[in-house]
Amino acid sequence: MSNSNGNGNIDSFQSTNNNNNVTILDYKDLLKIKDEIFLKRLESIKDFFENEYGHEPEFFVKVPGRVNIIGEHIDYCGYPVLPMALEQCILLAASKNIEGFLHLKNSDKKYGNYKCEMKSVRIDLPSSGSPQWYNYFLCGIKGILDHLNNVLPTNFGMSIVINGNVPPAAGLSSSSALVSAATLTMAFIYKVNLNKNLLASIAAKCERYIGTQGGGMDQAIAFLAKKGCAQFIEFHPELNATSVKLPDNAYFVVANSLTQINKAATSDFNERVIECRLSCRILAKRCNFNNWKDITKFIHLQNLLQCNLYELEQLILNELTKDIYTIDDILEEFNISENELIMNFLTENTKDMKMFKLKQRALHVIQESIRVNKFRNLCESDSLSIDMLSQLMKGSHNSLRHLYECSHTNLNKLVELSEEVGVTGARLTGAGWGGCIVALCDSPEQCQRFIQELKEKYYSQLPQAKNKNLDEVIFSTCPQSGAEIYLC
Ligand code: GLA
Repeated sequence: MSNSNGNGNIDSFQSTNNNNNVTILDYKDLLKIKDEIFLKRLESIKDFFENEYGHEPEFFVKVPGRVNIIGEHIDYCGYPVLPMALEQCILLAASKNIEGFLHLKNSDKKYGNYKCEMKSVRIDLPSSGSPQWYNYFLCGIKGILDHLNNVLPTNFGMSIVINGNVPPAAGLSSSSALVSAATLTMAFIYKVNLNKNLLASIAAKCERYIGTQGGGMDQAIAFLAKKGCAQFIEFHPELNATSVKLPDNAYFVVANSLTQINKAATSDFNERVIECRLSCRILAKRCNFNNWKDITKFIHLQNLLQCNLYELEQLILNELTKDIYTIDDILEEFNISENELIMNFLTENTKDMKMFKLKQRALHVIQESIRVNKFRNLCESDSLSIDMLSQLMKGSHNSLRHLYECSHTNLNKLVELSEEVGVTGARLTGAGWGGCIVALCDSPEQCQRFIQELKEKYYSQLPQAKNKNLDEVIFSTCPQSGAEIYLC
């Protein structure tokens, strides 16, 4: 615990005064430190909870969404990323119940209620389309259950009310915020004392029950974010976050293309993960590593080769010469049967892939990692300029568009419009295929002008933008803190 001593009715979950523990505050102390809008939101969730369950909640959990500044589609290859937490967050109110049931209610009635016995939690996914909202919550529960070897320490159930204002399907990590909130709530109710790194790792692992092979960035920033700083998040040799102070004159704007994506609803995301794993294995095999089948992350290969990112980039250019690899190419390369490829190398939703763009995906990963390092070094150097950072963000978008092919016409349009109005540092953020861009401005005035220009040039032409509150669709933001618990 890193702040108040939390002498509420749930009294464990903290031990030392170590800042790797989730911050626990007393609800009454929030009056001094949180703004009115936030407090009103908490009040209304509390009222909602009391109406639904007939008693007060025991505590609240807050988990933020995130915007990734740079370092896209590289976390699952083991490379560091540079996100920051948003103000928009999941807030939930919770208490135990003695009936042993899980009750999930969303204050937004378009998300229907869910109820099951705590001891029979099961994640049922649709054969196509997006999973139900509550499945993300169930992932978090499964994560802690796995950690406890499926033995619940008590027969309690949990009564929950959820309220989220992270735009869904917008690449701002609304799903991971929900999974992380569930993981934290479950751990707190059952007094499973875990630090932030462990919670983030459990949340990253259990979100894969949804079917996507995410890399862990979203859950890591959800727990490890610090107010005022972006985080340089490393995954190897273990999860570690280092605060990066962004330049005083850097102002970030998030603009939602209003093209929705749900990465669990299509195979696009997993296809990229698979292409990365396959390219890595080919390189490992060509470099004569007998355990090439197990070398699926570029960082692992790089460590084995003891080379730098530029040398790895050259290896890719030398070895992965084809623009497109067919199934036959892959089978020949690995000397395996098609059955083995499907069973051991592909996932359920990628087993029908026929073409693999290995060189392009691998090059993106390595060059993007180089950009992340440069961005971080610039932030720490005296010779920093917003223009230098902007060039790196621009390079990132081009690579995601052309090499990784995970952009969308509307994202490209937003990025092109940004450049036209003098904001060169603009790129898609999150998984892509829709969602948001993040753009870098050099003054509050430029920020305001930029927002106005996009409202006129993009949103006024977009049918989906009609009747939307544009202040929720395009907004400036600065780094917020990670997950917190508030005791009632
Ligand atoms: C999603 C995943 C992350 C990361 C990004 C792309 O948000 O959950 O792990 O791979 O896409 O950078």
